[in-house]
Amino acid sequence: MAKRRVPDELAFLVNRRAAQRTTDASMAGKVCVVSGSTSGVGLATVRRLARGGAHIVLVCRNREKAEAVRTEITEQHGVPVGVVLADFSDLDTVRAAAGTLLAGYPRIDVLVNSVGLHSTSRIITSVGFELVFCVNHLGPFLLTYLLLERMRQSAPSRIIQVNSEGHRFGGLDLEDLDWKRRRYKGLKSYGASKIAQLLTVWEFADRLKGSNVTINAMHPGDVRTNIGNNNGPLYRWWLHNVTWHALKDPVISGEALYYLAAAPELAEVSGRFFHLTIDEKPAAHALDRELGRRVWDLSLRMTGLSPGL
Ligand SMILES: NC(=O)c1ccc[n+]([C@@H]2O[C@H](COP(=O)([O-])OP(=O)(O)OC[C@H]3O[C@@H](n4cnc5c(N)ncnc54)[C@H](OP(=O)(O)O)[C@@H]3O)[C@@H](O)[C@H]2O)c1
Repeated sequence: MAKRRVPDELAFLVNRRAAQRTTDASMAGKVCVVSGSTSGVGLATVRRLARGGAHIVLVCRNREKAEAVRTEITEQHGVPVGVVLADFSDLDTVRAAAGTLLAGYPRIDVLVNSVGLHSTSRIITSVGFELVFCVNHLGPFLLTYLLLERMRQSAPSRIIQVNSEGHRFGGLDLEDLDWKRRRYKGLKSYGASKIAQLLTVWEFADRLKGSNVTINAMHPGDVRTNIGNNNGPLYRWWLHNVTWHALKDPVISGEALYYLAAAPELAEVSGRFFHLTIDEKPAAHALDRELGRRVWDLSLRMTGLSPGL
C-alpha cells in the first residue's frame, strides 16, 4: 500500500522522530561565535563545536557563567575560548559586542544565535521594546547584520539562527509589536519573535547570494533546557514536573547545529529552515515575502541601522 503523505504543516511531527544527519567533518581552527551559550542549546553547541576543534567565542550576558563554560571547554578540549558580553535586551550592548568581535577576530567562520527566552508576562525594555521580540529577534538580527561584512571576508562562512517550531503559533502583528492593543499571550509573543526572525533569514539569504556566506534557521528539537525558568512558580512547577519528562537532552541540538555548521553537503545551502537537520517547510505566514520586506525595514529601523545592504 502506498504511504500516505503527511501535510506540510504536520511534517515536524515526523521529522522530530526521524533519524538525524551527522557529520565527522572537522571544524579545527574555525572561529565560531555563539550567542546564548551559557545554557541549553547554545551550551550543547559550543561543547560539540569544541570537540570538533573549533575556536569558540561565547557571547553571553553573565560573566560568571561564561567563565565556567570557558574553563570547562578549555580543560576538556584544549581549544581557545573567548568571551564577549552582551545583554540582548539592551541593543547598545549588542552593538558594543559586535565592535569587540570585529576588533578581536579578523575572521569569523560561523555565527550561531541561540540566545532566546519565553515569557508568560509582557515586559517592556528600557527603550520600549517588548522583551521577547527584542531578545529573540532584534538582538540576533542586529548582531548578524553588524558581523556580515566580516563573514563575507571570511567566506565560506555560515550563519545559523536558532529558531523554533513555535513560529507556527502565529502572533506577529506589525501594528502591535509591543502588545499594547492585544491581550499579551506568551506563546504568541514567542511565535511573533520567531516569525520575524524567519522572515529576515530569507531576506538575509537573498542579499548574501553569491557571497559564499550562507544563512539558515533551525528548530533545535524539544529539549530540556532553562527556557521558561524566568516565569512564575506555577509555570516552573509544571515545567520541571511535567514538561521536562517529555523533553530530550540538548546534546541532540548541539549535534544538529554541528551538522549545520560543518557538513560539506550544506556548503551552498542557504535560506532554509531545518527541523534539527531535516529541511522542512515553515508555516505559510513565515513565507510571506511581502510581510518579510516590511519586517526587514522595521528591524533596521528598530535596531538603529540604516538600510545599506
Ligand atoms: N528548549 C527547546 O526545546 C527549544 C525549542 C525550540 C527553540 N528553542 C530555542 O533555542 C534557543 C536557546 O534556548 P534554550 O532552550 O537553550 O534556553 P536556555 O537554556 O534558557 O538558554 C538561553 C540562552 O540565552 C541566554 N539569554 C537569555 N536572555 C538573554 C539576554 N537578555 N541577553 C543575553 N543572553 C540571554 C541565556 O543566558 P543565561 O544563561 O544568562 O540565562 C542562555 O544562555 C532559543 O532561541 C529558543 O527559542 C528551544
